[in-house]
Amino acid sequence: MISIKSPREQELMRIAGQIVGDTHKYLIPYLKPGITTQKIDELARDYIISRGATPSCYHYEGYPANICISINEEVVHGIASSRKLRDGDIISLDICACYKGYHGDSAWTYPVGNITDEKKQLLEYTQKALFEGLSQVKAGNHVGDIGYAVSKYASAHNLGVVKELCGHGVGNNLHEEPDVPNYGIQGKGPLLKEGMVIAVEPMLNLGTADVYMLDDDWTIVTADNQPSAHFEHTVLVTKDGYEIMTKR
Ligand code: MF3
Ligand code: CO
Repeated sequence: MISIKSPREQELMRIAGQIVGDTHKYLIPYLKPGITTQKIDELARDYIISRGATPSCYHYEGYPANICISINEEVVHGIASSRKLRDGDIISLDICACYKGYHGDSAWTYPVGNITDEKKQLLEYTQKALFEGLSQVKAGNHVGDIGYAVSKYASAHNLGVVKELCGHGVGNNLHEEPDVPNYGIQGKGPLLKEGMVIAVEPMLNLGTADVYMLDDDWTIVTADNQPSAHFEHTVLVTKDGYEIMTKR
């Protein structure tokens, strides 16, 4: 069952989402060569808590950090450590916060210092792919319309679409029905209705779409070691479109 959020629930999700968006904005100035991912994780935790929320990722199915930090060929679910950012890295921050029982979820990939033109394009195209997917979000469309739009755009730019991980419903739980894959068939999949809340989150690779999991049992990396980007918003489905909950 895909839940429809009441006006009260929508209001709480707007707040949760705003906290996530604000956490992104808060962290951007720190994303410079030399900072450790551990420090970024702690800054995120402290900021989220200062806003009266909690970091949803912490201990989610045993996940050991507060936000997911994934660098270069790491696609998602990287774990903070003593690793320092270096000039030329790209860093994905996937931030989830829970406010009064409701979650917000948004990922964004940022450049560290000067990055190659290839990486710049990857970031630009993956962000555009997110909005291509979102352009299909409205009551009456189907989940397959979203994935179709994302993968069509990604393929046109020769990027690998990660298929092992999907977007998802969001609400009282960080992950709810439906799955929102980044591929699909137009008109297929669950029907979108007013009041549903979903996270759309393309993960696109410069090279192959293939990925595997590191020995830490969390970090997903590209099979060919080429960089990957991740852009995600949590959105409310409306009569004729969507409202971004995780505004930034
Ligand atoms: N933010 C991730 C998502 O988009 C969830 C990560 S779960 C964690 O679905 F346990 F890895 F943190
Ligand atoms: Co998500």
